[in-house]
Formats: sequence, C-alpha cells, structure tokens
Amino acid sequence: MNAPEPLSRWAQPGSSRVPFWAYTDPGLYQRELERIFYGPHWCYVGLEVEIPRTGDYKLSWVGERQVIMVRDRVAPRDRGTDHGIRVVENRCAHRGVRFCQQPHGNARSFVCPYHQWTYKLDGDLAGLPFKDGVKAVAEDGSPCVQGGMPADFDMKAHGLTKLRVEVLHGLVFATFSEAAEPLRDYLGPDVMPWLDRIFQGRQLALLGYNRQRIPGNWKLMMENIKDPYHPGLLHTWFVTFGLWRADQKSRMVMDKHGRHAVMISRRNDGGENKVVTEGVTSFKANMVLNDDRLLDVVPEPWWKVADPANPGTEIMPTVTMITLFPSVIVQQQVNSLSTRHIVPRGEGGFDFVWTHFGFADDTPEMTRRRLRQANLFGPAGFVSADDGEVIEFSQDGFRQWGEEGQTICELGGTGTGGTEHMVTETLIRSMYAYWRKVMDA
Ligand code: FES
Ligand code: FE2
Repeated sequence: MNAPEPLSRWAQPGSSRVPFWAYTDPGLYQRELERIFYGPHWCYVGLEVEIPRTGDYKLSWVGERQVIMVRDRVAPRDRGTDHGIRVVENRCAHRGVRFCQQPHGNARSFVCPYHQWTYKLDGDLAGLPFKDGVKAVAEDGSPCVQGGMPADFDMKAHGLTKLRVEVLHGLVFATFSEAAEPLRDYLGPDVMPWLDRIFQGRQLALLGYNRQRIPGNWKLMMENIKDPYHPGLLHTWFVTFGLWRADQKSRMVMDKHGRHAVMISRRNDGGENKVVTEGVTSFKANMVLNDDRLLDVVPEPWWKVADPANPGTEIMPTVTMITLFPSVIVQQQVNSLSTRHIVPRGEGGFDFVWTHFGFADDTPEMTRRRLRQANLFGPAGFVSADDGEVIEFSQDGFRQWGEEGQTICELGGTGTGGTEHMVTETLIRSMYAYWRKVMDA
C-alpha cells in the first residue's frame, strides 16, 4: 500500500490540532480499515436480542466487510460456556459472492446462490455440488467419473471467514484479529462500570431502528459524542429544555488509551441561566412543547449507582454517552436508550444505524415513553438531525482546504485525561493521540 506516512505530515506535536487530510485522504482511510477496523480492535455488530432463536441471523458490518451475526445450535455439553453467537463474513469461499441478501431472517444453513456451496451456521463448509464429480459411462462402456474437486480438497479449510466473537451484557462484538485482547480488557475498567450500569443483569427488548448515511468521515461521529462543548450551543432542544448545558454537573471519563470515552452528566431544570444561555442563539426562551410527553422524564432505579471515582458516594446521571472505539456509541439520554453503529463508507461518509432498545420487564407505559423520547434522536431527531448536518458541513470545509487546514481542539488545554466538567475537548484530543499511535504502528 502506498499510503502516505501520517506522522511525517502531522506538523504539530500532540493531538490538539487535527489536519484536514486525516478526514479526506483515501489512502489513509484504507490504512484505517486495515489497522483499526480489521486490526486488533473489537467492533460492535448487534444485540443478542435481535437473534433470539436458533438460526436467527442479521446482516451487519465490520468496517466495510459485511458479516452475518447468527445464533447457532449449542451442544448440551457446551451450554454455559458457549453463547452460541457466531459472526461469519458474508463472502462465499468459492468465488467471493456476497451470498446472503436478506437483512434479517432464519436459516438452517447458508447456501450461496451461484453454485450452491452450503455452509453451516458456524461458517463451516457443509457441502458443495459435484465435489466427487459426476458418474458417467466411458466410450468403452465402463463406468467412470467426470470432473469433481481435486482428491485432496479439504472441506475444513474452505469455510467462511469466522470472526472472534464476544458477548457482553447482550452486546455482540467481533474482530478479525487474533491479537485483540479479551473484550473486557479492551474496554477497560474505567468504561466498564458505565456499561454495567445500563446492561448488567437485564434482558433487553428491541424497540426499533433508524438508519441514515451521513456524508462525513466516520471519525467525526466519534468526535461528536466525545464533544461536550457543542450540545448546549448547537442543539436548541438541549439548551432550551436543560437536557445538556455547560452549567450541569458532568464528568468526562476515558480508558487508559484514550480511545473509548463516557460523557456523564446530570440534567438541570432548563430555563434561563445567563452564564450559559446569554447570546446563545439556539436558546429559545419562548419555546414550549405542544406535546410535553416528549419530555415526560421518569427517573429509573438503575440510574443511581455507586460512584466509581468516589467510593462510598452515589451518583445519578441522567445522560451517559459512551463511545466504544471505533464502531459504536451507546446512549442513555433520560429514558431513551440506543446503540448507534458506525459503518464507514469511504473516507467521506458512513452509515449510522440506530437500534433503540428498552428492557424486557418495562411496563407498556415505559416502552411508550422510551419510544416517544426516541424522537429526539435518529436521522430526523429533534436533537440528532443537527449533528448529522454539522458533520456534513465539517467534511465540506475540510475538502475545501485539503492538505493545509487543521482543526483546533484546545478547549480545556492541549493535554489528555478525564475531567470533572464539560468545558473541554479532552476526549477528542485523547482519541487522536491514540489514533496517531495506531496509524503509525
Ligand atoms: Fe458461491 Fe460459487 S460463488 S458457490
Ligand atoms: Fe450533538
């Protein structure tokens, strides 16, 4: 590969100024696929609850490679140790066909339409037509065999590409890499408590999907959810109704590499606070909801947890936005819960797949509440539509300047590390510090 040497072109020390080419260079993007999405990182592929029965499958993506997440049979002796979830690449071992076209379904096995090679749910090759040739009669009248695969063709060596799979609290992650550390270690002890808080010991209920294609580099989405600076400025909904503002109690947490992060905050009552609303054009003092059920927030018992950073005290955030590098965001914003899967589509775009969920023991009222609040999010969400748009505008700006331009991420300094407030761009700097290391590795 002739990708340019990133470090030789990154003029500034540190990671507080990101060159525009980091978002626009196609060669660099190929390197990102290899080193990040197909390298020793775990990528989110879906939720276990999406495939409840044996044979249920769903198409998903790791980087630009389409994969199938499927629930396999589990031998009785393996129950308890084998979660039964397999992730295999949707690419026929014969001639490379992307054989499965249904986004969701149930299958006993996978059959490629082209020459009917057949695979078990775990990706093993189960059979192929005319493997042993076709019986015929020779000119002299004796029986013979025509064609077939070579005698030494090894069925075991020609299954689908199998990814390593780990399931954490019902979230399914996969990796092509043998070198990726175990998933919990990959996520790290600083981020894990925030995943435990939402998921541990709970059966999930699937509520629905949104999907959109955003014409901006995939890293911009990670940045957006590591950026506590913008929500109280860009989003009318957040600043006006007090869901996210600079005057709230907040904390920025990251793993030791700086690649994953959690933005934790607690809602205040909205309304005017001169310090954070004065001059903010997105603050609409007179804006009221026609249907206030959109913000019919009901605190849930699991919101309150022991504070991982201050033993002996409790904390009760109303919002936790978790970025798990490189592929997913896990969101709790009041009663709305979702995963947002980032699927890169070239250096200038990505697909963004939202999976809204609740818990199996939710009351019907809570389920309706979660669904109503989900209107804030998704492609046309009252809040998230703003993010999709500014990401597109960012990419447009980068394209105009190519090599020369760079971003400035210096709110709160130029260093990395967690904070107890939100007036900082530290999480973005930290991700790029990690990115620089990986991309030059
Ligand atoms: Fe799949 Fe031939 S390409 S069976
Ligand atoms: Fe936002």
